[in-house]
Amino acid sequence: MKTLVIGTGGREHALALALSRDPGVSEVHAAPGNPGIGAFATLHDVDPMDGTAVAALAVDLGADLVVVGPEAPLVAGVADAVREAGIAVFGPSRAAAQLEGSKAFSKEVMAAAGVPTAGSHTCTTPEEVAAALDEFGPPYVVKDDALAAGKGVVVTLDRAEALAHAAGCGRVVVEEFLDGPEVSLFAVCDGVTTRPLQPAQDFKRIFDGGRGPNTGGMGSYSPLTWAPADLATTVVETVVQPTLDEMARRGAPFVGCLYVGLALTAAGPRVIEFNCRFGDPDVQPVLALLESPLGALLHAAAEGRLADVEAPRFRDGASVTVVLASAGYPESSSKGDVITGVGRANGVNDVDVIHAGTALDGDDLVTAGGRVLAVRAVGYDVADARARAYAAADLISFEGLQRRADIAAEPLGVVEGASLKDS
Ligand code: AMP
Ligand code: GLY
Repeated sequence: MKTLVIGTGGREHALALALSRDPGVSEVHAAPGNPGIGAFATLHDVDPMDGTAVAALAVDLGADLVVVGPEAPLVAGVADAVREAGIAVFGPSRAAAQLEGSKAFSKEVMAAAGVPTAGSHTCTTPEEVAAALDEFGPPYVVKDDALAAGKGVVVTLDRAEALAHAAGCGRVVVEEFLDGPEVSLFAVCDGVTTRPLQPAQDFKRIFDGGRGPNTGGMGSYSPLTWAPADLATTVVETVVQPTLDEMARRGAPFVGCLYVGLALTAAGPRVIEFNCRFGDPDVQPVLALLESPLGALLHAAAEGRLADVEAPRFRDGASVTVVLASAGYPESSSKGDVITGVGRANGVNDVDVIHAGTALDGDDLVTAGGRVLAVRAVGYDVADARARAYAAADLISFEGLQRRADIAAEPLGVVEGASLKDS
């Protein structure tokens, strides 16, 4: 099977790497990809936002499967363009990607499908916002309705800050605060049927102990030995299947990864948000542990045949991913700092160095984004995988490198569970 992965980040590197290790996959291509992906796949200089160009590349290559990684091209309809060209594509249509593209839409679908989530009001005026804030009380949760690259959500005890955030957005969703540890569940979907992957946890704040501003994710691990054993099954029954059914009823079947961000509250799992793609870095440890072939799974989803393939199988043990971020992250990012030690770290047994924001400057590998690299290790258990990941990460350096020292240190992760003490 010839595969083409669209995107530039750590998620795309992890997906391309897992595809390259699938014996059923003969070729891996990426557009535009990154220097890490370029080490084992063929890169093509095509704009991931240009559906016509992506579809033309897929036709040119004779690709059997296109995987569209990030939300922006999905929301822009890039998967539709590939599908119209007659090529199997893993990734939702523009219409189905609205589950991430509009918070108000996803809330409306959840309400129609009876999915447990935070109570909310969609507001367009300051008066509506004030009334909703007072109805739910503190802590206040205010979300920009539109895609905001991780900057759209404010959780605060300060009513004035909540009002100010709302004033800076167009339409906003004001929500009830959910208390409990956060969990990521990735559900592979073919429009009708779903196959959940093993749950993971993502450390979102920049500093140790869950302090400082939110980031795209500073590290992750899987499995969650402390979580209920039937978590994935429960979430499929109460969240994923009802959502798939509701989307199909609306004529926008969801094909791709439904990323369910959950809070495990005292009353049970509640949806914090839907994303229409895999999460990064949360999916990295999950893919490291996946034993069954990724290509066959995603291809079956793209062709509506998920019911016919085996459920994803995971190896024993655990995987931990530690993100190395550049100076200034998350407010800004330092570009062009020379990175050393990646080859040595990547050569360590059971370790993969995943590229998220790197570039080549002549022969030098340099920083080119906020999250630069992710060091991922597999081990016997979380503690072993964590020790291996940090030992390999110690081999890598660049000016201003930032990383957390406590990724997966406390498997319970309640430290970051929707806690406000650190914000
Ligand atoms: P989102 O972009 O919707 O994932 O929100 C970003 C982060 O804000 C989440 O990962 C949570 O930590 C937090 N958050 C969002 N919604 C809520 C909520 N209703 N209650 C508590 N925390 C929330
Ligand atoms: N790690 C969070 C995300 O991918 O949205």
